[in-house]
This record gives sequence, C-alpha cells and structure tokens, in this order.
Amino acid sequence: MTMTIHHTAEPEANDLRARLDAATGRGQRTKTPTMAAVVRAKGSHLWTADGRRLVDLAAGVLVANLGHDHRGFERAFARYAKGLPRTAYNFLTPIEVEAAERLLASMEGNRNAQKLLWAASGSEGIQKALWAAMHKNPDRKILLATRKGFHGKKGLAGDVSGEESPNPNVRWVPFPTDEIEPKAHYAKELDRLGRDHRDDIALLITEPYLGAAGSYHPPKWYLRMLQDWCRDNDVPFILDEVQSCHGRTGNMYAYQTYGLEPDLIVLGKGLANGEPAAAVVGRADLIDALDYGEASDTFSGNPRACAAVCAALDVFEDEKIVEHARERGVQLRAVLDELKAQFSFVTAVRGEGMVYGIEMRDDDIARECVLEAYRGTGKKGVHFLGPLAGKVLRVSPPLTIRREELYEAHRILSRAWTRVG
Ligand SMILES: Cc1ncc(COP(=O)(O)O)c(C=O)c1O
Repeated sequence: MTMTIHHTAEPEANDLRARLDAATGRGQRTKTPTMAAVVRAKGSHLWTADGRRLVDLAAGVLVANLGHDHRGFERAFARYAKGLPRTAYNFLTPIEVEAAERLLASMEGNRNAQKLLWAASGSEGIQKALWAAMHKNPDRKILLATRKGFHGKKGLAGDVSGEESPNPNVRWVPFPTDEIEPKAHYAKELDRLGRDHRDDIALLITEPYLGAAGSYHPPKWYLRMLQDWCRDNDVPFILDEVQSCHGRTGNMYAYQTYGLEPDLIVLGKGLANGEPAAAVVGRADLIDALDYGEASDTFSGNPRACAAVCAALDVFEDEKIVEHARERGVQLRAVLDELKAQFSFVTAVRGEGMVYGIEMRDDDIARECVLEAYRGTGKKGVHFLGPLAGKVLRVSPPLTIRREELYEAHRILSRAWTRVG
C-alpha cells in the first residue's frame, strides 16, 4: 500500500501528492521522505506548490547540468527544434547528422570516438553497448562487470549492476571502496578471471566512480589498470559515463579526468540537459557489429532529443561551463567540508568536480537530513535526492549554480541540520 507523504502547512502539495498516488504506481518513483511538489524552476532554484523556494542540489539525478530554464539553452533548443518532424523513424533529419557529428567532435583526440548509436535512456545505451561487444565476438559468453556498479535497471544493464546477477554469464571484478587494496590485489583477480575464461570474455564494463553505491571515486591507476588488462586480453573496455558526462568530474568527460580511451563510452543524463537522450560512442568495428534494426527502437535519435544535444553543446562551448564547474567544485567541496566540521553525524565527504557524497552516521540520520534540509528555514529549503545510497546523500547541483546559491544552501543546512539527531 502507498503511504502518501504529507507535510504540515502544505495544502496544495498534499493535495497533489494524494492525487498522484491515486493515479500512478509508486514503482515509478524512488523513495524519498520529501516528495516536493515543484511548480516552477529557474537556474538552481525550485519553487514548491505552496510557495517555498528550494536550492536544487541534485539537478534531477545529475540531468539538468545547465540548470532549469537556462536562457541560452532554451533559446538554442527552440531554434534547433523549430519545424522539426515529431519523429524520424525510418528517415533522417539533418539535426541527427549534426548532433552525431558534433558529439563525436566533442571527444576530439579520442581515437576510439569514431561512431555512435543513439538511445532514449541510460540503461538502453548500456544495453546497446553490451550488445555491440557481444555481437562483435558472438562466440564469447562471459560479461565482466566491476562490483557494486549501477548501470540501470532494465535488461542487461540490470544484469551487470550490483554484485549478484540473475545472468549466469556475469562475473564480478572488485572495485575499490572504503578499503583500497594494493594494485596487485585487483590484477590478481583479473588474471584469475582471464585464466578461468580464456577466449570467452566478451567485454568488461565499469563506471568512472561508483555513484549510486555511495560516491566512491577510485584512484586513477585502478581504471587504467582495467583498460590495460582489456587491451592485453583483447577484451572491449566499456566506460559507463551516463552520469559523469558533460562536465561532472571537472572535464567534459570522465575518461579525460581518468586518462582513459575506452572502446565504448555510454552517455546519458546531462547529454541533452533533460530531454530524453543517451548514446553509445566508440570504435566503428564495435558499433557496426550491430546490423540494421538490431539497435533500433521508437524514440532513439528523436529529432527533438538531437536538437537538445546540439543546444547543450552550444552552451557548454559558449559559456565555458566546464571551467565554471571546475571553479565552483572547489567551493562546493569547501562547503561540504565545513558541514562535516560542524556536524558530528557527517562521517565522510567523498567526490570530485561537481559530484559528491556526504556519508552520515546511519540511514536514519541521512533520511532526517534530507527532510530537515527540505523543511529548511521558513520559506527556504534545500532539495536533495532522497537518500538513495543508504546513509550517503548525493550532492550534484547544476554545474551552473552560482556562488551565492551555494552559500545560501550552506546557510540553510547549517541551521536546519541542528534539528537532526
Ligand atoms: C552510471 C549510470 N548508468 C546507467 C544509469 C541508467 O540510466 P537510466 O536511468 O536513464 O536508464 C544510471 C542512472 O542512474 C547511472 O547512474
């Protein structure tokens, strides 16, 4: 049974929540103690149905990297989208060609960024990347995935997420979390897998950092070691950049931050600043392993999604978003460190660029922190993703957040969290 969330003094939002719960299934949403009802958004601010204002420290789920209702983005998007057909199934539009060419060009210098496939969600992009590698070597069965990753819930993306799989062909490679073992530890595991499944490994998939599992950012040598091992063993190396793409780690792409050149890279979330678009970019021989129709579906490469991809690239270039994010990331880190110094229930702050996790003493404290941040101070609050990663709160504001907005969030949290515990 669905327990409708109710907050005091929120008549409008309480009515909307009750009606939503009556009309839709709860399975569509992730669990949060707040369930804010947002009627307007601008930049890094959200306005609730009852007239409160929240600083957005989530950007959806790392989606609205340019913030909400960004003037440059909306104008460019409207310009690109003007007059486009509503669908381009079985025909092409120039906007798709432009979006594809520009996305490849945005990876200039990456020798493997040769061709792409569109998808309509991150997990579909992952599925297509896995299919591409599996079709390239159809006689190989084994899928290697780094443990505790999250690549989506659907199909093969779900099979290679977490640390247990319903798919008997998935094998797990350890990923450094709280304890970082010496390099030899991981190398030994990889070599063992290589020996056990000689000539039978179709691919290895990993994330630049474990976001959903609670913000674990590995040392650079770890991901390079995975890539080197893949090269030595002729195994396609797939990097899931669904959440790290478009500026999160302080570079346009995380493969640049970590000094990698993966065979396939999956992009999503911030790629089109909120329009549903995802893509797999990589080696032409892998992308072309899929024949006509094998990766087609109704919405992938949709003209408006492609228009949004172009508009986002325009703004990233024109407004030097990555440089801005790098600078703001330093302030974000300082704010989070100050919160850690102020509140003893904050046990760790982990992250890089504009993506962090705040680890709390336990899940209950994390839940209370989300709630009290929302309640904030009077008419103002702070919006977090619900504590999706147990006791770790994810922090991923729009990359365009202004310094004052960040400091405003800090002021609200440093008062609101005195009520926690
Ligand atoms: C790293 C990563 N990969 C894949 C996905 C799946 O994307 P989607 O929810 O668009 O299917 C997510 C979503 O959170 C993600 O964070």
